[in-house]
Amino acid sequence: MRREGTLYTILFTCGVCGICSVLVSGAAVGLKERQIANRILERQTHVLAVTGMIDRGAHPTASQIREIFQDRVVAKVIDLATGEFDDSADVATFDQRRAAKDPATSTPAPENDARVLRLPKNALVYLIREKGSRDEIEQIVLPVEGMGLWSILYGYLALDKDTTTIRGITFYEHGETPGLGGEVENPTWTAKWPGRKAFDNAWQPAVRVVKGVAGGPEEDPHHVDGLSGATLTSRGVTNLLAFWLGDNGFGPFLGKIREQQGS
Ligand SMILES: Cc1cc2nc3c(=O)[nH]c(=O)nc-3n(C[C@H](O)[C@H](O)[C@H](O)COP(=O)(O)O)c2cc1C
Repeated sequence: MRREGTLYTILFTCGVCGICSVLVSGAAVGLKERQIANRILERQTHVLAVTGMIDRGAHPTASQIREIFQDRVVAKVIDLATGEFDDSADVATFDQRRAAKDPATSTPAPENDARVLRLPKNALVYLIREKGSRDEIEQIVLPVEGMGLWSILYGYLALDKDTTTIRGITFYEHGETPGLGGEVENPTWTAKWPGRKAFDNAWQPAVRVVKGVAGGPEEDPHHVDGLSGATLTSRGVTNLLAFWLGDNGFGPFLGKIREQQGS
């Protein structure tokens, strides 16, 4: 066959494409497990960071993360509507974001300011055990999400066992503008949250991001400084917390915890 001929060129191109597609799909299949493991590890890192068990910005090794997680964290799938644990669900494989998209495992959310469109039947929460204890719970970590200005913000809120004192907040995924709404992930801003109170005395969600500067956690427990130049993202944070702390979110679950504690 002539190397300069059209047929040769077509066959050569097809051959190169075939080899490349085998290599790419082989790599995708071969790396899938590692990708899943990395995703789980990333999630575990965020959970540990929001509770203060590892320093934000610290780079613990994968085995250190797994060790702390195994020692201190109990992941639980709950039924959002009842607030009960749902032990029939597999915690290791449960994906709340996927569940929220699937009509078989979610329902349309009631209209809300956080612009949460669908509510999964189940949610994945994390209970943090007191150091050295098997039964005593120290903190509860809840996944939260809702619309900012440009994007959905995904994060975690850590509450003290009293279910109202905030221990930490983190946003690990969003598409807000760096330097404006993107400041939701700035450690200087997230450091303003611990000690604030998520609920008022009637157990209604009360924490909100204000425009301007709030007082300290003691004198101004329900308010957090606004992000300057980013009032709309700040409002999004207020809205998403109001939604997930409310009756359609984790309200029933947190109520059950308080019942168990007899408070
Ligand atoms: C290019 C561009 C990007 C912006 N990104 C954000 C953002 O991520 N979050 C936000 O709340 N406001 C953002 N804004 C500003 C909003 O349009 C709005 O002016 C601001 O939220 C009002 O906040 P302020 O009252 O604190 O100034 C952006 C504005 C521009 C021009």
